[in-house]
Amino acid sequence: MRIMKWLSSIGLDKIVIFTIIFNLTACGTTTASELPKATAQGTPADGKKGYHDLVVGFAQIGAESEWRTANTISIKEEAEKLGVELRFSDAQQKQENQIKAIRSFIAQQVDVIGVSPVVETGWKSVFQEAKEADIPVILVDRRAFVPEELYTTYVGSDFLEEGRNAARVMVGLLGGRGKIVELVGTVGSAPATDRYTGFREILEDYPKIKVIASASGDFTQAKGKEVMEDFLRIYGDDIDALYAHNDDMALGAIRAIEEYGLKPGEDIKIVSVDAAHGAFEAMIAGKLNATVECNPLLGPQFFDLALKVVNGEPVPKRIKSEETIFFPHNAAEILPTRKY
Ligand code: AHR
Repeated sequence: MRIMKWLSSIGLDKIVIFTIIFNLTACGTTTASELPKATAQGTPADGKKGYHDLVVGFAQIGAESEWRTANTISIKEEAEKLGVELRFSDAQQKQENQIKAIRSFIAQQVDVIGVSPVVETGWKSVFQEAKEADIPVILVDRRAFVPEELYTTYVGSDFLEEGRNAARVMVGLLGGRGKIVELVGTVGSAPATDRYTGFREILEDYPKIKVIASASGDFTQAKGKEVMEDFLRIYGDDIDALYAHNDDMALGAIRAIEEYGLKPGEDIKIVSVDAAHGAFEAMIAGKLNATVECNPLLGPQFFDLALKVVNGEPVPKRIKSEETIFFPHNAAEILPTRKY
């Protein structure tokens, strides 16, 4: 009462009473945006975790291609948007670094581990360690050769079908006859193995089309150029077409072909995989004949799966991305709509 008398004497009593009443009223009508963020995502109400409760470790391969950069951005941006705490590691294309990152995520007791395995083999022990620590592993983009119980789900492209699609396009470009050189991705990686196999499955029906040379460019522009220079040195004008397992290697090869004095896209037909911006620019310039889509924008699906898994909800064991093929005739029109 003494305080009220004093507030009244200095003319502040009404303001203080109004403030107290306003605060009490507001307590009863809190809006979603005023709640702590995890609550706004539905956490405590149903006893399930929300995105803001999630701590996710992601063991990325590296930054070998435009595709990979887009994949990393998709994961980081989605984590930020959803409020997930993301612990991200870039392995610089080395499996031992990815394994170290996974072990460190286990030690940190993250809720979920995402990994894009650089090669298929050599994951059994570390995935087993994650399982023993009760941390689900989600494969993103590339598969690993491990027993099914060691990972929860696998989201990514159908690399075999990408290889088949590349061959279907190539058959049309060559009119059923010709000599192809092939730039293979990282040796031992799921996309390199499947794109190699899928391509040959279709070519079996076309005996007049031959793959005369095949070597790895490790999914990078620099190595793609280097290997194409070797192909040109050995086979020169005999080469009718190039099949590159990704756009970056095709772009490197395009430079090698130009330096050699031939016209990419005309003298040597080129089909690659990914459908990244660089490929669209090359198609617009008439230097690339087709690119088979491989979607890197897996962030939204990955975190959706991570949350479901943590909350004990069922998820499919395999989720395939839907993809298409792009050609030069409408590349200029389509390019502005592309997100990577
Ligand atoms: O695993 C997907 C492949 O990895 C992409 O085709 C390639 O560009 C990337 O490096």
